Amino acid sequence: MNCYGHFDDAAREYVITRPDTPWPWINYMGTGDFFSLISNTAGGYCFCRDAKFRRILRYRYNGVPMDAGGRYFYIKDGDTVWNPGWKPCKTPLDLYECRHGMGYTRICGEKGGLRAETLFFVPLEQRCEVHRVKLTNRSDSPKQIQLYAFVEWCLWNASTDMENFQRNLSTGEVEVGPDVLFHKTEYRERRNHYAFYGANRPFDGFDTDRETFLGMYNGFDAPGQVLAGTSANSVAHGWSPVAAERFDLTLAPGASEELIFVLGYVENPAEAKFEAPGVINKAPARAMLDAFATDAQADAAFADLRAYWDDLLGRFSVASDVPELDRTVNIWNQYQCMITFFMSRSASYFESGIGRGMGFRDSNQDLAGIVHLIPDRARQRILDIAATQFPDGGCYHQYQPLTKRGNNDIGGGFGDDPLWLLFGTIAYLKETGDFTILSEPVPFDNVPGSEVTLLEHLKISFRRVATSLGPHGLPLIGRADWNDCLNLNCFSLDPDESFQTTENVVGGQAESLMIAGLFVAEGKDFAELLDRLGDAEATAVRSAVRAMEEAVKKHGWDGEWFLRAYDFHGGKIGSCACDEGKIFIESQGWCAMARIGADEGLCDKALDSAVKLLECEHGLVLNAPAYSSYLYQYGEISSYPQGYKENGGIFCHNNPWVIIAEAMAGHVEDAWRHYTKITPAFGRQSHDLRKVEPYVFCQMVAGAEAARPGEGKNSWLTGTAAWTWKCVSEYILGVKPQYDGLLIEPCIPLQYGTYRIHRRFREAAYDITVRCTDGGPGKVFIPYSPGRHVLEVTV
Ligand code: BGC
Ligand code: NOJ
Repeated sequence: MNCYGHFDDAAREYVITRPDTPWPWINYMGTGDFFSLISNTAGGYCFCRDAKFRRILRYRYNGVPMDAGGRYFYIKDGDTVWNPGWKPCKTPLDLYECRHGMGYTRICGEKGGLRAETLFFVPLEQRCEVHRVKLTNRSDSPKQIQLYAFVEWCLWNASTDMENFQRNLSTGEVEVGPDVLFHKTEYRERRNHYAFYGANRPFDGFDTDRETFLGMYNGFDAPGQVLAGTSANSVAHGWSPVAAERFDLTLAPGASEELIFVLGYVENPAEAKFEAPGVINKAPARAMLDAFATDAQADAAFADLRAYWDDLLGRFSVASDVPELDRTVNIWNQYQCMITFFMSRSASYFESGIGRGMGFRDSNQDLAGIVHLIPDRARQRILDIAATQFPDGGCYHQYQPLTKRGNNDIGGGFGDDPLWLLFGTIAYLKETGDFTILSEPVPFDNVPGSEVTLLEHLKISFRRVATSLGPHGLPLIGRADWNDCLNLNCFSLDPDESFQTTENVVGGQAESLMIAGLFVAEGKDFAELLDRLGDAEATAVRSAVRAMEEAVKKHGWDGEWFLRAYDFHGGKIGSCACDEGKIFIESQGWCAMARIGADEGLCDKALDSAVKLLECEHGLVLNAPAYSSYLYQYGEISSYPQGYKENGGIFCHNNPWVIIAEAMAGHVEDAWRHYTKITPAFGRQSHDLRKVEPYVFCQMVAGAEAARPGEGKNSWLTGTAAWTWKCVSEYILGVKPQYDGLLIEPCIPLQYGTYRIHRRFREAAYDITVRCTDGGPGKVFIPYSPGRHVLEVTV
C-alpha cells in the first residue's frame, strides 16, 4: 500500500503524510561545501567539506531506535511533550506532514491545538543550516509552553568520535552566549574551527552537558529537563557537549510566534582565532546570526535558494503525457544527480561518511548527470580527478575530498578506472564545447612539476588499457572492473582481509569483457575527438579498437550472449557452460553499447538473452543464476547471498546500459519496459516493499532470487542517478549533446511519442516539440547557434 506519501510536482516536493515510514526517508541540503542529511523526522547530521573529518552533529548509524540524532524541537504543552517531527518522543500527533523539496525540508506537526511548522534549509554560500519554527495556537484558550531546540555535537572526526572514548570524554568544551551556544572542542590546539547553534532571541535557559539535559539513563525521547520544563544551565566540561535551548512562550488563541535558528560552522584565520585568551573569536558567528535575524532575511535567503534550483532545473525539462516520466526528468533525477555529484559516495543512510573517499570511476560517471547543470564545477572536478592519475596511466581508485590526494589505503589497479576519465571528459566537451580544458596542465599524483596537458592524460589512459591485455587480447581486470566484487586475482580465504585491497596474486591474467566493451565504446568516441583536434593518434586508437572488437568476437562470444570474463586460470565466467553465473549484465550492456558484432546480430542476440535470463518483475538482475556458495576464485561477488548486491541483485546502475543498448538497437518496447521497472516514480514496488524513498533511485533492488524481491537498498548515492539521466535524456527522449549541436533521436513508444523539450545548451535555449512517427526511430540534427529557438521535429 502506498500510504506514506505522494508527489507534489508543482511544488517540486515529495509529501510524506505519516512519520513511521518503512525506513527513514531523507533529503539533502546544501549546494556549496556545507551539507546536511535530514530525515522525515528531522534526524540526520551536517558537515563541512568532509563527512568524516568535519562532522558537526553526532549521528549513530544503525542504532536503535533507528535514526537517532538530529535537530530536535521539543514542545512541552502542559503535561504533554511532543516533537513536530514525531521523533524522538513519538507522541501521537493530530497532524503530521513532511515535505522534502529541492535543498530544504518542511516538517509540520500539530498537537492539542498547537501547530508547529518547521523549515530547514542550507542557504546559498553559507556554512549553516537555518531552522525556522512557527508556532500557532489554534485552540481557543491561551497557551503557555516551553520550546526546546536541541542538537548533539560530534567531536569533529566522525570516526574517532565513535571509538576513542578515553580521550573524547575529556576534551569537550563549549562557550555560552545569551542567544547562542558554541561548540569549541579541540579549538584550543590545532583546530581553527568551531560550531554554534543560536537563535534570533535570547533563550530562557540552556544546557550544554548531555546527561544534565537528558538525565543519565534517559534517551532522547525523555529528556529530564524537558519533562520538568526546566533547564540546568549546565556548562559541559568533557563528556558529551550538546546545545539545548529553552524558550518560554505565551500564545493567545490564534496567535503565532516565529523563531529562527542558525546551526553554523566557522573557520577562523590562525592569527584571529581568539578574541581574548582562551575565548573564541565569535565575530563570524555573530555575522551569520545577524544575517538571519529577521523573517525578511530568512525569507530572502530561502527565496534565493528556490531561485537557484528553479534556474538549474529550468535548464532541461520535458512536457509529455506521462507524469511519472516528467517528474523523474524534471525534478527528482536531476536533483539526485546533483546530490550524488556533491556527496560522491560519502554520506547517506547507507554510507557512513567515514568509509570512502571520492571514487575515480564514480566521480567520472557522476559528471554525466551534471555537466548540463553546473559545467564549471564539472570542469574543476575533471581536473581534480585527472591529477590523481599515475604517470603509467593507472590511477588511485579513490581520493580524499579534503586534500584531493589519492588514497594510499586503496591504491590503484582497477582495470577499468583509466577509461572513465575519457567518459567524463567527453561528456563535458560535448555539453560545453569547451576544448580549452584539454590544454590545462595537470600533474600526476598531485606532484608539482609533473604536469602534462589533460589531453595527454586521456591518451595515457587509453594506452594504459590498450597495453594491459591478457592471453585472449582482452583487457586485464586487475583488482576488479566496474564490478568491484569480481575479484578474480584475489583468492582470499581470510575474513579479515578486504576484497578490494588485498594483495593480488602476482601475474594475474584474468580478463574482462566489460572493460572490452567500455574500451571499444570510449575508444570510438576518443578517436572522433582526436580527429577534431587533428591529432594523428586517432589512427592508433582506431586500430586498437578494431583489434579489441576482433578479440571480443573471437574469444568473448558465448553463442547467445557475451561472456563476462576469463578467470585467473583462463576459465570462462558468464558462459552457458557455467552452472551458476551463466550470464552477466555488464558485458551485454557494454558490448552492445559499443555495437560489437552488431552487423552479425550479436548485439540483438545478447539483448534478447538479457531479457530472457536477467529480466524479472523489478528490473534486470546482475547475473543469473546467482552464486549459491562462496567461490574464492571469484571474490566478493559470491560473498553476497543470492539476489543481493552484485550477486543477482538488480544493480540499478547497470540497467541503463542495457536500456541504452536497446535504444541503439531500436528495441523501443524493451527499452521503455526496462526503464519503467527501475524508475521509482512508476511505482513498481509498493512503499512497504520498496522500503526506501520512492522519489530516488537506489543502488540496488533485491533481485528475483532474493528473499524479498523488490526491496530497495542503498538509496541516493549511486551511479544510477547519472546513468538513468543519460539514458532518459539522451536515449529515450533522445536529446543528445554533440560537439556542434543537438541530435534528436528518441526511442519511446509511439503512444508517448509527442512531447515538448526545453533545453538550454551553451548560450542557446531550445524549445523543441518532438513528434515520433511510425516511420521512426529517426533522427534530426540541430546545429548549435546561440539564442532562443523554437522548433518542431518529426522523427
Ligand atoms: C560493494 C560494492 C562497492 C564496494 C566499494 C562492496 O562491498 O558491494 O558495491 O563498490 O564495496 O568498495
Ligand atoms: C558501487 C561502487 O561505488 C562502484 O564504483 C562500483 O562500480 C559498483 N558498486 C559496482 O560494484
